[in-house]
Amino acid sequence: MKTSEIRERYLKFFIAKKHKVVAPSPLVLENDPTTLFTSSGMQQLVPYLKGEKHPEGKRLVDSQPSIRMQDLDEVADNRHYTFFEMLGNWSLGDYFKAEQLPWVWEFFTKELELDPKRLYVSVFEGYEDVPKDTESFEIWKKIGVPESHIFFYGADKNWWSRAGAPDKMPAGEIGGPDSEIFYEFDTPHDPNFGKFCHPNCDCGRFLEIGNSVFMQYKKLENGKLEELPQKNVDFGGGLERIAAAVNDDPDTYHIDLFAEVVRKIGEEVGVSYNTDSEKNKSFRIIADHLRAAVNLLAEGVVPSNKLQGYALRRLIRRAMFHFHLLGSGISGSAVSFVAEDYRNHYGNVHKNWEFVKENLEVEATRFESALKRGLAKLTHAVSENLEIDGKFAFDLYQTEGFPLELTMEILGQNGMEFSQLQKNTFEAEFEKHKENSRSMSAGIFRGGLESKSDETITRLHTATHLLHAALREILGEHVGQKGSHITSDRLRFDFSHPNKLTQKEIEGVEGLINEKIKANLPVTFAVMSLERAIKEGALHFFAEKYGSEVKVYTIGDKENWFSKEVCGGPHVRNTSEIGGVKIIKQEKIGSGVIRVYAALR
Ligand code: SER
Repeated sequence: MKTSEIRERYLKFFIAKKHKVVAPSPLVLENDPTTLFTSSGMQQLVPYLKGEKHPEGKRLVDSQPSIRMQDLDEVADNRHYTFFEMLGNWSLGDYFKAEQLPWVWEFFTKELELDPKRLYVSVFEGYEDVPKDTESFEIWKKIGVPESHIFFYGADKNWWSRAGAPDKMPAGEIGGPDSEIFYEFDTPHDPNFGKFCHPNCDCGRFLEIGNSVFMQYKKLENGKLEELPQKNVDFGGGLERIAAAVNDDPDTYHIDLFAEVVRKIGEEVGVSYNTDSEKNKSFRIIADHLRAAVNLLAEGVVPSNKLQGYALRRLIRRAMFHFHLLGSGISGSAVSFVAEDYRNHYGNVHKNWEFVKENLEVEATRFESALKRGLAKLTHAVSENLEIDGKFAFDLYQTEGFPLELTMEILGQNGMEFSQLQKNTFEAEFEKHKENSRSMSAGIFRGGLESKSDETITRLHTATHLLHAALREILGEHVGQKGSHITSDRLRFDFSHPNKLTQKEIEGVEGLINEKIKANLPVTFAVMSLERAIKEGALHFFAEKYGSEVKVYTIGDKENWFSKEVCGGPHVRNTSEIGGVKIIKQEKIGSGVIRVYAALR
């Protein structure tokens, strides 16, 4: 079955159970500097899981493209990705376990016709004050799951929060016990089943295909867990993995989404997939990383040395490096040729293909030259018999983005070994470097939890609407939002326009925004159908992704407004709360796309 059909069947199944389809969030959340990327469907729903009313009601469903950079090193196996799509459904204080578990079971066994004998489930064993989940255990038994297929695990496996187990959750974070479903492949396996191998074992026999989180708790400052005002369900199932289960093939890179890209990689390097396990790793890394890269580029992220841009740069470079490991350097245009098939699967990639292609090729070409320079330095060192130690390898990594594996590979080809000691020196340097980036991410996370910065973000968010409206007034109606991102100290806004702004235009835009701030305009919202919102002249971004009911924010008088946009909020109540705005920088990031940065002043 094709992934698109599974996605469609899933949405229909839950629509029939009175769920409303919500628009998935972009990969880079506009107003959430606490994380680099959207990594699960619940992320945009946190306020609603905590009790706020959602405009679409209490039962929601969607399919959420997600990025998990923490899985980067696992991608080489047959079931991990940096980019994946998560089928999700939610009860916001509505139904609970007794409805959710039978529905998920029905979806897998009736709608997708997975053999119930191949399904296993796991249930929460209990942790401190949170009791063992005997309720789910009884429900699974009632559904007909034999006890031999039900496994209890502790908080390390059967508890979900964005930070992991309860002891890892920062104050304010929400989470709860969960119940997972696993598909068993008919692969050779350990005969000591149950003793050494079980659903959560990593040997490849089992694949987790769904997780129902009973999102019920909030972590308090004193370290205790407090019950949320409502009992929620947060279900997530990886679309690619579900497709692999439907195919009854443990290699998730065999599904339709990857087939053409994997074939084209083979064509470029002259080797086909499944030649040997080392080569398979490279195929998967290339297919995965390019998929993540094109989806990020489609949202206007461009390679850089900071935050999302840096993650994107690493993805593209790692993909390029693996082309080399497969035995072939590759030109920028060949990389975009390989990645182009993803246009057929992701509307956003299709729509923004010219921008994606251009930026992918620029970065790939840049790395090709860095690789050449790195190779020259290395070959020179080898021929001169210079000492190639861990420090040398790390410098090469830092200056040219040259991974250790590649250095070792080339040394190997010259009959040279890289000793354990040298590897350790490299690792030590690398750890130092990683520590720096880790504290950078931790800093972002902490920054986002401070209420002071929450306020700043809200002000910057309303300022973004003012900026959008001001740009349209000064430059013309062709200006449309292409992307937006806010951190605790600035906003960034990408829009369609052929050239950088002149000084006069910048002054005009800035002047108009500040005039509207000084005018003490009210900021109000109303919930309405998307159709009506469009009729009222509301600007909308990612239009095809919205649900039927949307929130529309208006700045100014109801009749004589300055800005009207479809948006989830949050916003200040009056423009005067913004204080003042200054445009601090602008750049052209692609043909027809300009990026401006602005800060509060
Ligand atoms: N939030 C859970 C997960 O990401 C289920 O949706 O696995």
